[in-house]
Amino acid sequence: MNLHEKIFDLALKRSIFYPSNEPYGAVAGFYDYGPVGVLIKKKIENLWLRMFVKNDGHHEVQCSFITPEPVLKASGHVDAFGDPIVECEKCRIKIRADSFIADKIDGFEWDGKLKSLDEVIEKKGLKCPRCEGKLTKAHMFNLMFKTGMGADRTPAYARPETAQGIFTAFPRIYRNHGTKLPLAIGQVGRRARNEISPRKGLVRMREFTQMELEYFFNPNEPDIKGFRDVSDLKLRFKIDGKLNVMGIGDAVKKEVVPNQIFGYYLVREWEFYKQVGISEPEMYFRVLRKDETPHYSKRNIDMEVQTSFGIVETIGNAYRTDFDLSQHAKISKGDFSVFVESEKKKIIPHVFEVSMGVDRLMFCMLEHCFRERTKEKDWEWFDFPPVVAPYEVAVFPLMKKDGLAEKAKEVTNKLREEFDVLYRDSGSIGRRYARADEIGVLTSVTIDYDTLKDDTVTIRYRNSGEQIRITIPQIIEVIKRFKKGESWSSIKDDYKSFS
Ligand code: GLY
Repeated sequence: MNLHEKIFDLALKRSIFYPSNEPYGAVAGFYDYGPVGVLIKKKIENLWLRMFVKNDGHHEVQCSFITPEPVLKASGHVDAFGDPIVECEKCRIKIRADSFIADKIDGFEWDGKLKSLDEVIEKKGLKCPRCEGKLTKAHMFNLMFKTGMGADRTPAYARPETAQGIFTAFPRIYRNHGTKLPLAIGQVGRRARNEISPRKGLVRMREFTQMELEYFFNPNEPDIKGFRDVSDLKLRFKIDGKLNVMGIGDAVKKEVVPNQIFGYYLVREWEFYKQVGISEPEMYFRVLRKDETPHYSKRNIDMEVQTSFGIVETIGNAYRTDFDLSQHAKISKGDFSVFVESEKKKIIPHVFEVSMGVDRLMFCMLEHCFRERTKEKDWEWFDFPPVVAPYEVAVFPLMKKDGLAEKAKEVTNKLREEFDVLYRDSGSIGRRYARADEIGVLTSVTIDYDTLKDDTVTIRYRNSGEQIRITIPQIIEVIKRFKKGESWSSIKDDYKSFS
């Protein structure tokens, strides 16, 4: 079994994620998160909100999922949000053309022209994978889910990105929240993309969660406070197929990265990814070629992560300039300009965008945090960092009898005021430790006969299996120290350890 098959197997067994509407036969591209998966996903989203929105005093919004057609006509999605498709002339199966060719021909990279796809199909004699029939010429297929509003079914779409709701709300938020640039607005929400052939589980879904930050700024002031503090930090960039290590300050100077704002957020993304458990050597930023850059962007730099499926794109950073606001101003006739006091004139702000998929990140995390069985630990487990472990602590009474279960429930209730807590009172204690490790629970607390006498418990660290004896209030202290980034070895030295 390769790693993604193992992850899928574990995800099903441990309620991390599974196909939606299973009894009716799973439809590709739709997955639900189970109780364990929801806990992990919410922790990723909360950390993102803290690091990208709240810590900087930016604003969070939640916009509608169904979007009227004129909005998406203005944004360009009605005309330009598509993938190339070919059809079999015999069995009429529709296939995403660029992925189909890439699967057949090593190193194939689409240059964005339909003609190039037709030429390769012709030259290599590619046929329908189902019936060997002849394939039609390639054409573009719009990836939005179309719907109709109300009794007359006025055209609308499931939103193809959360960003448009932020752009259309910009004038109001600007007016109501300080009338000053820069201004940044973030959103975590669902979006849809009618993939032609969804596959690879959480990597290519038809409905998924996005975390987006739109940073509105005056293009004459593209600097950002705090950039100098990070400018020496080295990141990996893939440019024209070659990996380069570059200080972010240099990357801005050499115009690989368009400005300080863009650079500052690349550094933050790097830090965020490390914090959620993505292995640093397996991630890099890729500077997109012009023909790959979306219609609204002047420069795109993606985060790419190595997985058992190969490279997966997990973040898109785009310098959207004034494209979206200008388009909405033109089509809606609304005023999207702001008055800049220092220049004594009105401008349309420029936008830098961070756009991250939660589900793809979650998949990468599951792979990067997965640990195989060893001699010491005869079970597979997840080494999730403390900030994203589904449960910070599991509570186990040694036995159900003699008041141990009651005491354990009392401790559980106390800890639930602060953390996500797993309670289990059946099975051997060793088996309960193993089950907790298997879903990446950070620590396990055991309530034994000494607990009844002196209110102390043993707390076990998932990764080493080591235990220390501490008081009940100290459980909260230990977990908080973990979540602040302290290591087990420094925490445990402050308490009495025993085997
Ligand atoms: N906001 C960028 C995208 O979703 O494609």
